[in-house]
Amino acid sequence: MVKKIAIFISGRGSNMESLLKKSLSDNLPVQFIVVSDNPKANGLKIAENIGVKTIVLENCSDGWKLTDENSEKIEQIIKEHNISLVLLAGFMRIIPKQLIEKFPSTFVNIHPSLLPSFKGKNAQRDAFEYGVKISGCTVHFVDSGVDTGPIIMQKGVDISSCINIEEAKNEILKAEHELYYEALKLLLSSKYTIIGRRVIFGF
Ligand code: GRF
Repeated sequence: MVKKIAIFISGRGSNMESLLKKSLSDNLPVQFIVVSDNPKANGLKIAENIGVKTIVLENCSDGWKLTDENSEKIEQIIKEHNISLVLLAGFMRIIPKQLIEKFPSTFVNIHPSLLPSFKGKNAQRDAFEYGVKISGCTVHFVDSGVDTGPIIMQKGVDISSCINIEEAKNEILKAEHELYYEALKLLLSSKYTIIGRRVIFGF
């Protein structure tokens, strides 16, 4: 059965592009829509060129918060399109607790560090400046905290020979593109249960 998946973006959309293209080329039984809080997001053009339906959340205010109106709009999109997974890919808004509780194990995020290290929006810079040799990326369920939800998959990236932050970011981004698609396939193909903080596959 074809699963309906929403990818939420705010900007560049490289993770979204990688998910769309890899799924298409593997004929994954999925249908995507792309949702953006930013009408100028570059990812919107990419999605449209690939032929994927896009939706823009109207009248987003500045900052991390979604308005009640947009929160209701997201709920409506999930119900109307029968969405089984929402993949956040550079979506710069916090998903309200009520939405997460209404749709458990639905919101998934990718973060460019090995969580729980280096949460927040400057993860790659923080890891590079800290001097870690191995950083990486994490795909996790979204909970009401920031970058704190149960971990689905992680991939380490050796940044020890990166000479600047840009190089470290690029190495991590390449890994993100691989990891997010692997995590999507795993979520689609395997049953799982969450015990405490642990996501256990194969149930
Ligand atoms: C990625 O590094 C992702 O991990 C983070 O935001 C960035 C989005 O990049 N959450 P892109 O829009 O997917 O290119």
